[in-house]
Amino acid sequence: MHPKDLVVQTFRQRFNREPEHLALAPARVNLLGEHVDYNDGLVLPAAIDRATYIAFSQANSDHSTLIAGDFAKEVSFTLKSVSAKSNAGGAPLPDWALYPAGVAWALNEAELEVSALDAVYSSNVPRGAGLSSSASVEMAFVIAWQTLGGWTLPPMQRALLGQKAESKYVGVDCGIMDQFASACGVADHLLVLDCRSLEWQTFPIPRNIAIVIADTSVRRKLTSSGYNERHRSCEEAVKILAENLPGITALRDVSVDDFNRLSDQLPVMVERRARHVIEEMERTRQSVRLLDLGRFREFGKIMNECHVSLRDLYEVSIPELDKMVEIAQSLPGCFGARLTGAGFGGCTVNLVEKNSAKNFAEELTARYQRATNLKPEIYICRASEGARII
Ligand code: GLA
Repeated sequence: MHPKDLVVQTFRQRFNREPEHLALAPARVNLLGEHVDYNDGLVLPAAIDRATYIAFSQANSDHSTLIAGDFAKEVSFTLKSVSAKSNAGGAPLPDWALYPAGVAWALNEAELEVSALDAVYSSNVPRGAGLSSSASVEMAFVIAWQTLGGWTLPPMQRALLGQKAESKYVGVDCGIMDQFASACGVADHLLVLDCRSLEWQTFPIPRNIAIVIADTSVRRKLTSSGYNERHRSCEEAVKILAENLPGITALRDVSVDDFNRLSDQLPVMVERRARHVIEEMERTRQSVRLLDLGRFREFGKIMNECHVSLRDLYEVSIPELDKMVEIAQSLPGCFGARLTGAGFGGCTVNLVEKNSAKNFAEELTARYQRATNLKPEIYICRASEGARII
C-alpha cells in the first residue's frame, strides 16, 4: 500500500476519526559535495520522489501519540517527558521515536508552540540507505507542528531546527544538507547550497539527463559512530592547521596548496580525511561551473573521482557500493556514478543520458545481481518539491 493511504487508514483505525491534515517530506539524493556540509562547503543535492507521509490531528490531551506505520509501533510522550528522552510513562524512548521527539524538543527550545498531536507516519524511503530517511521524518514532523502551532517559519529555519534535533538530541553530528534538501526541494531542479552562508540557488535538470538511484540493498551499520568519528577528524585537522593558518575556522578555509604544504603535520588518518574534504570542495566548485556550461560528461567524471576519494581517503565505501559503481561506469550512457550520502552501505547515484536510462537500469540490475547475489533496487528518480501539506 502507498504510504499516503497507509497513514490515513491507520489513523482512522487507531483514533476512530479522520485525520485533519496530511503532509509529506521528501528524501534527498546528493550529486556532489559529500561529507563537506559540516566543513562549510558547497553541496549539490536534490529532493526526490520518495517521502515520509504523515496524517495528524490535534490531540485531546497533553500527550502526543505517534504511530510508526512501517513497523506498527506506537509511543506517547509529553513535552516534559521528551526533555528526559522518555515516553509518557517514564520509560526510555525507543530509537525510532527519537527523531520526532527530537523535533518537539528543538521546537520547544526555540520557544515555538508544540501542540500535542495524534499522528501516523510512514515512508517509502529505504532506511539506512543514504537517502536521508531520518531528515524526511524530521521535516514531516516540523510541518505537522507548524500546522497545529499557528506559527510559520521559512524552510531554511525549519531545516536548521531538524538538524539541531538530529545532532543535539538523536546524537548524529550531521550537517545541514539533508534537512535543507527535504525542506527546500524544487521540482526538476538540483539545489546548490553554500553550507557556510546558507545561500542557495537552483539549477534546472536538463531534459536529456536522468538521475538514477541504485540501492545495493546493503544497509549500513554503526553509521553514527563512524560518521561522528570522521566529523571529529575534520575538527582535529582544523585545530592543527590553524597553528600555521591563523583565523581558519573550518576546512573550507584551507586551499589545496596550503594543505599540500602543511599536510605532513597531521596524523596519517586525519590527513586522509581532511584531504578528501578539501579536494571534494574544489571538485564541487568546479562542478558548479560545469553545470552552468551544460558539460555533463565532465561533471560525471568529477562524480567518479569523488567515489574514489570516498573509498580510499574518507573510507566510507563498502565492496558492494564499489561493485555497483564499477558496473555503472562501464555501461553506455553513464556520465558518472558514485556512492551517495554518508556511505557505509546504501545507494549510489548515477548521472545518465535520458535515452539510455532504461537500459542502464536493467543492465545494472542484472550485472550487480550476478556479481553479488544480492537483489538491488534501481530507479530513475524525479527531483521534487520540499516538505509540505498535501
Ligand atoms: C549524512 C548527513 C549529512 C552529510 C552526509 C554526507 O547524510 O546527515 O549532513 O554530512 O551524510 O555528505
